[in-house]
Amino acid sequence: AEVVIVGSEDEAGELAAGAMLELIRRRPDTVLGLATGSTPLSTYRALARRIGEDGLDVSRVRGFALDEYVGLPAGHPESYRQVITREVVEPLGLTPSLVHVPNGDPETIRTAAEAYDDAITAAGGVDLQILGIGRTGHIGFNEPGSSLASRTRVKTLTEQTRADNARFFDSPDDVPMHCVTQGIGTILQARHLVLLAFGEGKADAVAAAVEGPVSASQPGSAVQLHPHATVIVDEGAAAKLE
Ligand code: F6R
Repeated sequence: AEVVIVGSEDEAGELAAGAMLELIRRRPDTVLGLATGSTPLSTYRALARRIGEDGLDVSRVRGFALDEYVGLPAGHPESYRQVITREVVEPLGLTPSLVHVPNGDPETIRTAAEAYDDAITAAGGVDLQILGIGRTGHIGFNEPGSSLASRTRVKTLTEQTRADNARFFDSPDDVPMHCVTQGIGTILQARHLVLLAFGEGKADAVAAAVEGPVSASQPGSAVQLHPHATVIVDEGAAAKLE
C-alpha cells in the first residue's frame, strides 16, 4: 500500500475528498464505499464543502456503507443508517435512495446480507472505498479471525470494539453484540481502498496492517493484497511504522 503521512485529520480529509471529487467529476454515477465512526468525518466535511464550492452535481452518486448494527430499533440515532443519513447523505446532498446501508433487522438478516453483496455487484462494484481501522485491527466490522475471502454476513463484535464504540451510546450495555458487515473479500473488490487512521491508539493496528504478515488475525493486513490501496495517517497513527 502507498502510505501518506499528513499533519492533521483535516489534511487527510482534504486528500481523501479530493480523490472522491475527481472520480465524481469523471463519472457522475460513481459508487462510493462509506465508512462510519469518527475517522471519516473530516473527509465527509471536506467533501461537502468542495461539492458546494464547485456546484458539482452529485444527484447520481451511489453509495454502499460497510456495516450496520444488528437489532437497533429502526430510526435509532446511532444506527449506521441514521449516521450515514446525517453525516453523508444530507451534507453532501446525495439522493437518499441511491445510498445503501446493510439492513440490521434480525428477522431478515441472512438473506439481506447476501442480497447486499449482490447489490454491490449489480451496481458495478465500489469505485472508492473509505476505510477506518479498529484498535483490534478490524476493517468494516471484520474482527480478527475473519476470513480474508469473507462476504457480507453477521458477526459478533469483540468486547474491545463494543467498549470503543460505547462513546456513541448512553451506556456501554446499549452497544449491540452483533453487526452485519461487508466481508474482507467484499471490501477487496473495490477498485481503490483509502484507509484512514488518526492518533496513537491506532498505531499498532496500522503497523500490523501495512507492514505485518497478511493474516486473518489482522484483518487490516488485507490492504496488502489490494493493487490500489492508499493509507493516510497522521503522525500518531504512523508512530509504529518502520
Ligand atoms: C465503521 C467501521 C469500522 C471503523 C473503525 C474505526 O463503519 O467499519 O471499521 O472504521 O471501528 O472507528 P473510528 O473511526 O470511530 O475510530
